[in-house]
Amino acid sequence: MQPLHLLEKKILRALSEVGQADLEGLISSSKLSEDQVRRAIEWLQAKGFIQLNTTQKNLIALGSKGLEALKEGLPERRLIQHLKKGVKNLVELKGLFKDEQEFSASLGRAKRRGWIKITNDCVELVNEPSRLPEEDLLEKLSVKQNVEEEELVKDKVLYEGVKELLSRPNYLSKKVVKKVQVSLTEQGKAALKSIVEEEELDALTPETIISGIWRQKRLRAIDVEAPAPPIYAGRRHPVQLFIDEVREIFISMGFEEIEGSLIQPCFWNFDALFTPQDHPAREMQDTFYIKGVAQNYADKEEIAKVSATHKDGWRTGSRGWGYNWREDEAKKLVLRTHTTSITVRYLAEHKPKEARVFTVGRVFRNEKVTFKNLVEFHQIEGIAVGPRLTLRDLMGLLSTFYRRLGLEKVKFWPTFFPYTEPSMQSVVYYDKAGKWIELCGMGIFRPEVTLPFGVKNPVLAWGGGLERLVMMKYDLDDVRELYANRLSWLRRSPLCL
Ligand code: PHE
Repeated sequence: MQPLHLLEKKILRALSEVGQADLEGLISSSKLSEDQVRRAIEWLQAKGFIQLNTTQKNLIALGSKGLEALKEGLPERRLIQHLKKGVKNLVELKGLFKDEQEFSASLGRAKRRGWIKITNDCVELVNEPSRLPEEDLLEKLSVKQNVEEEELVKDKVLYEGVKELLSRPNYLSKKVVKKVQVSLTEQGKAALKSIVEEEELDALTPETIISGIWRQKRLRAIDVEAPAPPIYAGRRHPVQLFIDEVREIFISMGFEEIEGSLIQPCFWNFDALFTPQDHPAREMQDTFYIKGVAQNYADKEEIAKVSATHKDGWRTGSRGWGYNWREDEAKKLVLRTHTTSITVRYLAEHKPKEARVFTVGRVFRNEKVTFKNLVEFHQIEGIAVGPRLTLRDLMGLLSTFYRRLGLEKVKFWPTFFPYTEPSMQSVVYYDKAGKWIELCGMGIFRPEVTLPFGVKNPVLAWGGGLERLVMMKYDLDDVRELYANRLSWLRRSPLCL
């Protein structure tokens, strides 16, 4: 048999004396705290040593009117007493009551029961009632509030009183309480027999060691698998933990982290990325614009080169988009819609021949919030620059990244972005849901993007949503859950998966 906890033994013993008991009974007979009794009951029940029987009880107590009647007598009794004292006139009698309603109710009741007769304005006592069941009940409840209805039903007279007073507002209150009866099962009885009567030591203390008692007594075995109340320490948010994991991976792959502002001029969010000024992504329905315009956001000459590239391709070998580029469009401020604005800005500022950088940060899109879309979410973005880099290297980089996150099955297929050629979409297989999930978009930056900033070597670029990966990790099917701040989920989401 598994060792029993001291608390369990105490409860079993308490039950052996009485057979079954309720919680209060166990608390008083075991001399344990309510919490200890509850815990022991839970464990014993899990072991099949006890069973719980829940019953409902109605408790009857005095209401405000009932308490008043206890002090001053029932109004009908007061009426009789006034009559006995010789007050007979209706108006006079009425004056002796606090309110008219109470008076007329008592008068009606006394008349119906044949105690009085009313002629003209005069009330006459014809039959003085002896003690009423209601009065017995008031007395009973004055000694002990909250009497079980069941107990009252047993006494015919008292129950008459209950019925009567329940029909009068505020005389009685009725409360339903659940009662749990704990009783020993056959297994429990067997366990009880095998409990060694000898007292065991709960712990080794300086006293028990010095006195040598520890030699004579047995030490209580501890069930290290017994359930214990969970303790929730403060911890970081799962999304933040995941961001750190992503950082670790890129850093381990030789990348350096870069950062940038959440607010960007359209120039960096769109124009530098060869996204034409009439592109639908730039519309207000999709993008959040901020008041004001950007100043000194880029090198004058480079702005001119971007402008020329949009118009006719400048010296990039492209024919451009064939329209007149306007700087006032480029100066408008937006909440960045992708983190590609950060990597392209890095290229323009550093003009690297070789580089490996990444960024993780928030982006904003004016979309409806649904189970799969947020207005504000995170992207993971990166670029690798080098003289001999190819599309194969890009696929290799991304596959490595996914593999380190535990995602083994990866596929790539062609797609379109205004700023990369060729462009690809990557999907990974999500085992738990049995489907392919779209993750990063990627490609090699077009010459229209790199040449205006003097970057000559191929630039591999990719970017995609972070929340989807977190959802896969925690097996969630609604992104909103990530930011709903439900404590139960935040506390229980595992740290390691
Ligand atoms: N910016 C793209 C997006 O938000 C992803 C991307 C980044 C595509 C870099 C190509 C290159 O989906």
